[in-house]
Amino acid sequence: MPVSTFTEPEPTPLALLLLGHGAEPDTEKGVECPGEMPPSSDAELVAAVRRHKTELGDRVFILGHHYQRDEVIQFADVTGDSFKLAQQAAARPEAEFIVFCGVHFMAESADILTADHQRVILPDLAAGCSMADMADIAQVEEAWRVITDAGLADATIPITYMNSTAAIKAFTGRNGGAVCTSSNAQQSLTWAFEQGERVLFLPDQHLGRNTAVRDLGLDLADCVVYDPHRPGGGLTADQLRDAKVVLWRGHCSVHGRFQPDEVDEARRRIPDVNVLVHPECRYEVVEKADYVGSTEYIIKTIAAAEPGSAWVIGTELNLVRRLALENPDKSISFLDRSVCFCSTMNRIDLPHLNRSLERLAQGSVENQIVVDPDVAHWARVALDRMLALPGVGARD
Ligand code: 13P
Ligand code: SF4
Repeated sequence: MPVSTFTEPEPTPLALLLLGHGAEPDTEKGVECPGEMPPSSDAELVAAVRRHKTELGDRVFILGHHYQRDEVIQFADVTGDSFKLAQQAAARPEAEFIVFCGVHFMAESADILTADHQRVILPDLAAGCSMADMADIAQVEEAWRVITDAGLADATIPITYMNSTAAIKAFTGRNGGAVCTSSNAQQSLTWAFEQGERVLFLPDQHLGRNTAVRDLGLDLADCVVYDPHRPGGGLTADQLRDAKVVLWRGHCSVHGRFQPDEVDEARRRIPDVNVLVHPECRYEVVEKADYVGSTEYIIKTIAAAEPGSAWVIGTELNLVRRLALENPDKSISFLDRSVCFCSTMNRIDLPHLNRSLERLAQGSVENQIVVDPDVAHWARVALDRMLALPGVGARD
């Protein structure tokens, strides 16, 4: 018996809203917040995608991140968070083509984890990630030079979030570090503190801080923020030496929008509401939430929730909307006051998916993601360290 239906958030009054509170316009390139989704695709296009996919058969495997549009998700062979999709890409050696419906850093990871004969395709090359763009390899090399000059490199372990370029993953692998995702950041940081005294966490300051303080029991004062736009990161050598976690000044433009007062407001509005957020949200929001976890965790938590229970969710709107549709016996609402999708995830639409499959069926490969072999080697070292962490590789 349905308890309530999902209410779409109010469209933002601005035609294009710059994402993120305290936004950094010089780092958030090309990120816009549309007030509404482009219209969904027509029936002919749906039939065409179905035809090409049938024609390609087992030669093609389509991966879909949970933040993808419904029109795309319906064609995914597997859906998942970034960790599950990386695992799934690695587990499909028979597929000649992996079509990645997600963003650029995910497709790079898939290319690194798949065999040489497999080709990874990103249906729209403009599907990047503003967080990943907040750390480029030259900036990270410079930060490492600052840490080295302070005499701290030997005891500092770099950990990079999956949401980073292959070049940064390779830097991490070369310098004794590992990759993490939002579902295994705790294990990854625990491992890092067994290897050294300090962690350089790239590029999401919020995931790094939330994990260090909430999961590992460190103090907020143990974390410092390295700003790549300031000389020396804006930190003294003493500040670096005293820090246990050096957080890169990056954030997700979608999850960074949620504010602590929105949690208060939801609790006033909805009696007995459960607040469930992604760990890319800022610390002040996560502290006020009841449950925190990756997109897979969010899905499992809602699936296991009591019928009749009320939930407000702080993650990307495509996923929240889908959860509301799939769980009509629970009351589900969106934490942000205004509409906000991940604009780069949404670049993958049915016309782009159709074009990729049509070209593959015709025998040509468009938008292939190829990682340089040396970069791929060292990035794989960092990814394999993550996959080998206790309890991590076994997760489905
Ligand atoms: P997960 O897929 O690890 O939950 O991360 C969310 C995200 O922002 C992906 O870009
Ligand atoms: Fe990047 Fe955030 Fe979009 Fe994920 S949701 S792709 S971290 S901008």
